[in-house]
Amino acid sequence: MITVTKTFLPSLEEYHTLLSGVWERGWVTNEGPLVIELESALKKYLGVKHLFFVSNGTLALQLAIKALNLTGDIITTPFSYVATTSSIVWENCRPVFVDIDPDSLCLDPRLIEKAITPTTQAILATHVFGLPCAVEAIEQIARRYRLRVIYDAAHAFGVDYDDQSVLNYGDISTLSFHATKLFHTGEGGAIVTQDDALAKKIAYMRNCGHVSANQVVGLGINAKNSEIHAALGLCVLPHVEELIAHRRALTALYDALLIPRAIQRPMPSPRAEINYSYYPVLLPSEDHLLIAVNALNQADIYPRRYFYPALTNLPYVAAGASCPVAESVASRVLCLPLYHDLQESEVERIATIINAHVLGPSLCV
Ligand SMILES: Cc1ncc(COP(=O)(O)O)c(C=O)c1O
Repeated sequence: MITVTKTFLPSLEEYHTLLSGVWERGWVTNEGPLVIELESALKKYLGVKHLFFVSNGTLALQLAIKALNLTGDIITTPFSYVATTSSIVWENCRPVFVDIDPDSLCLDPRLIEKAITPTTQAILATHVFGLPCAVEAIEQIARRYRLRVIYDAAHAFGVDYDDQSVLNYGDISTLSFHATKLFHTGEGGAIVTQDDALAKKIAYMRNCGHVSANQVVGLGINAKNSEIHAALGLCVLPHVEELIAHRRALTALYDALLIPRAIQRPMPSPRAEINYSYYPVLLPSEDHLLIAVNALNQADIYPRRYFYPALTNLPYVAAGASCPVAESVASRVLCLPLYHDLQESEVERIATIINAHVLGPSLCV
């Protein structure tokens, strides 16, 4: 069976070595030495100033909204994983959807200003599939209207923009280290900021408000992560470059084999160094997509409709302005299998099935 992704697991021996230290110390959570080591290794690898390892990428988003004291409208993307919107609603804010750019599939900066009202407080945009948002345009708008900016960078581990980490844009960026991600800790995530005052606040907020055992300085929640998860991350991190290199090679192979008439690919900014974490394609229509999925499933291959449906359709969001680009993209987008031990011959099989079924006689375009 070939699935859309597969978790990279380091050797059990490497993991066991780090775990034996945990057993010796008997120190399993609450800012143990492995959590501290992982945070400092990640800061160095990613080139960021402050980074807090947390329980998952959803809590990272919720903490970001809370740390910025947001209580009103947040302009956001309709094309992302559900956690981007649910975090806004969970924190009692209101998502205001603005359509996406058809090339990058990220929030379209040309449409943001029209959606700003006196109750708008922030922009929460996703670097979807690790393709950077139009960070400069978004920040210009944010400065002009005094809005805060959060980037959901769940897919953007190791992505650069103009030769520096894309995580350094905005007030806060959040990461997911879920097992499906390029870099993972099983479950996990991180909050990144360059702002010292915000960092101080996030440090106690993720730790139930504690700054020391007997001192609680403000409202917090338990968003800490454990030594067991940190150990996994420390074993995965040294492999990230080789994981990216393999995905880059498989991406080039898919690009060479898939017939452009059958699929369309999102386009990253030429100023971005991407991480090849996903291989999204846009089919000509939802009918073509369903035919391709069915043919792939028949061959025991399971791509995923990331992200379907568009978030404007969630049952807990109010109807707002329509987002035709996101609606169209969500109905036609498919992420093809891409992972560390996917074989070239498997990419060839997948491409052959898609070309044949999308361009086949019944639906010839
Ligand atoms: C864009 C995006 N944001 C947020 C999340 C939430 O991360 P987590 O699953 O670690 O809570 C995900 C997870 O898949 C995601 O893809």
